[in-house]
Amino acid sequence: MQAQAAADALAAGDLIILPTETVYGLAADAANPAAVARLYEAKGRPRFNPLIAHVADWTMAARVAALDERARRLAEAFWPGPITFVAPIADPSLVCDLARAGLDTVAVRSPAHTVAQAVIAAFGRPIVAPSANRSGRPSPTTFADAVAETGQAAAVALDGGACAIGLESTVVALLDGPPRLLRPGAITRAEIEALVGPLAEAEADARRSPGRLTRHYAPSAPLRLDAEAPRPGEAYLAFGPAPAGAAVFILSPTGDLREAAARLFSALRAADALFPAAIAIAPIPERDLGEAINDRLRRAAGYVG
Ligand code: TXA
Ligand code: MG
Repeated sequence: MQAQAAADALAAGDLIILPTETVYGLAADAANPAAVARLYEAKGRPRFNPLIAHVADWTMAARVAALDERARRLAEAFWPGPITFVAPIADPSLVCDLARAGLDTVAVRSPAHTVAQAVIAAFGRPIVAPSANRSGRPSPTTFADAVAETGQAAAVALDGGACAIGLESTVVALLDGPPRLLRPGAITRAEIEALVGPLAEAEADARRSPGRLTRHYAPSAPLRLDAEAPRPGEAYLAFGPAPAGAAVFILSPTGDLREAAARLFSALRAADALFPAAIAIAPIPERDLGEAINDRLRRAAGYVG
């Protein structure tokens, strides 16, 4: 069975390509520092940037992290699913120091993908899985893109089809004080605030997030945001009614934010493959999933340092 082969590879200290509902991950045994070191190396990821421990469910999460009432409420509403909690580490033997970048906190998420769930169940312990791109590049949302990015480093690569959501999970810190939004994502601000009250903005410790480094999620071509139309030589990502053209990629013909999120990273990759002068992108409204889409676009453009 595929999941068992993947679990065996993890137990042997190898890396695997793992599909989730958000983006493809490159996964390792969370408790094995040598495997986690190889994971950072394969991605070219700075070691001060901690990883997410993927768990089967609340029970496994509660062994790893000290989760409070707010986490319980959010998990009941959204797990398995695209929201990650940062909470105090409860058992450091389950998620090694290197995976946590030496922090006394840990990020946990239960993914809503049958393949990811089957692998975690077969392995029986948490798996760390950053997005399967090389550090700084767009996250892979198809099996082919994941294999092209980091497949060489993986002993096993599991094909779970195209990712349904296409944007990384929302990351919320549940520590002292109000909950803080460290990374906007598939579960929106409004959905979270309805359950746990107003979110504070991430400040100092969010600087440890990769998104806070210059140019993350970035293709090779420069990006031009809020573009009503392409200029000569540019590729164009349209949202809603689109101009005709060979280098036009439609995120959503009807202006649907979920559809646009699901297509965003693969459209950036496809546009980049044409080696355009720039990739121009239509304005995306800031509401709902638009916050996460615009966050990724601003970082890909290098606007957030
Ligand atoms: O949707 C996702 O979350 C995907 C799929 C594969 O599950 N994974 C993913 O992982 O996006 P990665 O490593 O690319 O992003 C993890 C984010 C980073 O922004 C990291 O800085 C943050 O979570 N993070 C992890 N542990 C943290 C901690 N203890 N404190 C603050 N931020 C943390
Ligand atoms: Mg990433």
